[in-house]
Amino acid sequence: MANTRTIAFIGAGNMPQSIIGGMVRGGYPASAIFASNPSRPKLDTLEEKHGIQTSQDNIEVASKADVIVLSVKPQLMADVCAHLRENLPNLADKLVITIAAGIRIEKYHQYLGDDVRMIRVMPNTPSLVGEGVSGLAADSQVTENDKDFVTEVFDYVGKTIWVSDEDGIDVLGAVAGSGPAYFFEFMAGLQQVAEELGFSTEDARTMVQQTALGAASMASQSELSLVDLRKQVTSKGGSTAKGVEVYQNAKLDKISADAVKAAVARNQEMAKLF
Ligand SMILES: NC(=O)c1ccc[n+]([C@@H]2O[C@H](COP(=O)([O-])OP(=O)(O)OC[C@H]3O[C@@H](n4cnc5c(N)ncnc54)[C@H](OP(=O)(O)O)[C@@H]3O)[C@@H](O)[C@H]2O)c1
Repeated sequence: MANTRTIAFIGAGNMPQSIIGGMVRGGYPASAIFASNPSRPKLDTLEEKHGIQTSQDNIEVASKADVIVLSVKPQLMADVCAHLRENLPNLADKLVITIAAGIRIEKYHQYLGDDVRMIRVMPNTPSLVGEGVSGLAADSQVTENDKDFVTEVFDYVGKTIWVSDEDGIDVLGAVAGSGPAYFFEFMAGLQQVAEELGFSTEDARTMVQQTALGAASMASQSELSLVDLRKQVTSKGGSTAKGVEVYQNAKLDKISADAVKAAVARNQEMAKLF
């Protein structure tokens, strides 16, 4: 870790639990991590599993930290921020990160003050198993050192991609945030046909999920483009070529484009709710 800072997670749900787990496993000192949550059970688990410090009082943990990670549901964010602003006189000295979906940085400046250094992160659900991809956007007050710190934090649960403005977060959300659902939909179709053609549910699922894992793993280990990788596993005139032709005739690329654009539009609509 280039720079260890004290960091407090406000809200101890699934996503912060995974990030904290990734940080501690990756060697980040547990003594520098705090979390708060209204009820105790998740805090007890965090203390027992990772040895971090916890409290049911948001202000108690936030006041001890250099970095605050806002990890409550979007609909609670305005109230949680108002409470922090009223009770933390030195809020402007801290870096504030939010992982809530849909709320723009401009809104946080209204909630917390214009002088707060703010980074918005959009992690995706595979972060829960350490294979996530997070989109990150910063306001103009954030320093390079802040960015390096936040990159390292989210690298503990996958990969990180900085975007130059928040429209990029909407796009990344539509590709990577929604992407696991697209892949599951596609995989479910392959499983279904394997079952129809005689395989047990268990074997059909194993062959599909292992193929997806294997393909993703090959892609991540190769320098070839995805199109070239596909060509590499498609012999001319062979059975794969026949199958790929069916997808191409159905314009799978156009279907993907339509799906992503629909999700981007929905992200933009939802941002207007806050
Ligand atoms: N999970 C994902 O894949 C994912 C992906 C991208 C972004 N996010 C964002 O991450 C944030 C958290 O998601 P999550 O999946 O971790 O949600 P979650 O599991 O529902 O956790 C939310 C937590 O916030 C706590 N909480 C409620 N009121 C609070 C308050 N006033 N102060 C502090 N904590 C409070 C809840 O405690 P109680 O249970 O005691 O009420 C709960 O533990 C959301 O904004 C979501 O949009 C999640």
